[in-house]
Amino acid sequence: MKLVKTKQEVRDTVKEWKKQGLTVGLVPTMGYLHEGHASLIDASVKNNDRTVVSIFVNPMQFSPNEDLESYPRDIARDSEVCGEHGADLIFNPEPEEMYGDMFCSYVDMDVLTKELCGLSRPIHFRGVCTVVSKLFNIVTPDNAYFGQKDAQQLAVIKRMVEDLDMNIKINGCPIVREADGLAKSSRNTYLSAEERRAALILSKTVNLGRSMIESGERDTEKIVSAMVKNIETEPLAKTDYVKIVDALTMQQIKTIDRPALCAMAVYIGKTRLIDNFEVV
Ligand code: PAJ
Repeated sequence: MKLVKTKQEVRDTVKEWKKQGLTVGLVPTMGYLHEGHASLIDASVKNNDRTVVSIFVNPMQFSPNEDLESYPRDIARDSEVCGEHGADLIFNPEPEEMYGDMFCSYVDMDVLTKELCGLSRPIHFRGVCTVVSKLFNIVTPDNAYFGQKDAQQLAVIKRMVEDLDMNIKINGCPIVREADGLAKSSRNTYLSAEERRAALILSKTVNLGRSMIESGERDTEKIVSAMVKNIETEPLAKTDYVKIVDALTMQQIKTIDRPALCAMAVYIGKTRLIDNFEVV
């Protein structure tokens, strides 16, 4: 397995692979890899001849008040994880390699990005769409892999690929959780022991919402209000949002009468965590 820092090295390697008729999978990440990321690498390795993992903490998707500086980084450990899971190439550029001095072109999206995380993180999805478009152009993969953990991001990327006629298949992969239910996240490392315990309120609340729907409840207001009340039982937790939206448009719905997404963002102390479940 090779680690490269420049776009040109990626292009040269992928060109060789394509000459040999090999298929290419891409797993975009910001590093500090855990089993959630590894599950995406596994899916790519299984379904493609070659797998590229990008590791890039993308400044463009962080607001000035967010955790760009403190975002955890460990490229040595990440390289081991990629190697163990059978990736072929790591692309780990510096910000200057991705964004030159004159950079001023963006990929932006309406509708889907104006809800859920887009409300509390107004510039986030422009940064995500722009960097993912760049990665798609650099790697030119046949397949790309994204986690259901970031369900809105997955929906946004699928919409972007469709709207802009990008010839790449987007594959969504299930949420990987800790044994006690907490969704794996690089940001879990910010939690103190007490906060780590409190963070369980997210998966517990997911389970509550899911069981209400399984018992036949379809009124989203009732489900959401029960979920918010449940979060309030945890003193260290503060709800950013709990919403039920149309799975394709990310717009809120009153009744669950179509494929839907129930998504939440909750502050545990200063750390903002997300979780969700799909209703098919
Ligand atoms: P990052 O947060 O590193 O996540 C990279 C990929 O791993 C995303 O597709 C995310 O949904 C997936 N992932 C994270 N935790 C997961 C879990 N517990 N189970 C399953 N999949 C999980 O998302 C980003 O980076 C960035 O926004 C990026 C797409 C790389 C653009 O910069």
